Amino acid sequence: MRYPILFAVLLGTVVPVAAQDDAVYGGRAVAVTEDITLTGGEELFRGLCQGCHQPDGGGAEGAGNYPALAGNPNLAYPEYAISVVVNGQRAMPPFGDLLEDGQVAAVVRFIQTHWGNEAEIKASADLVEDARP
Ligand code: HEC
Repeated sequence: MRYPILFAVLLGTVVPVAAQDDAVYGGRAVAVTEDITLTGGEELFRGLCQGCHQPDGGGAEGAGNYPALAGNPNLAYPEYAISVVVNGQRAMPPFGDLLEDGQVAAVVRFIQTHWGNEAEIKASADLVEDARP
């Protein structure tokens, strides 16, 4: 008879997490907004980033030095990558004027979760807003 109580407690912890995710994106249905966000992230990476960082995130050395995003420990937390994408950094151009908060969050989420990157704390639109000058 102890199991149903335990189950109820577990459910109680899962539901607020889902609700929080929903709030971050300001969306009405978590499943739908998550889907759009992640799909958009890959498209943005393909269109804007892979020319320098390569389709497999492996980076490149030669005429320029483009750091690998694959297996990159700097992506474990979202703030640094968000700041680089919004404001630029040395030879990395800024994308803050081109992309909306949700788009920056989407592309950073994409690089945080591919090519061996498994960040637990992922980019959100709120964090992007904070990173804007
Ligand atoms: C014109 C080439 C170019 C494009 C396009 C580009 N980057 Fe970069 N990126 C760079 C360079 C060069 C650096 C290294 C900057 C430095 O010296 O600190 C960099 C650094 C980064 C870093 C920090 C890596 C680290 O470990 O310090 C991240 C994250 C990043 N880029 C993500 C992106 C994303 C996401 C996009 C697309 C929205 C993108 N970049 C588009 C050239 C580019």
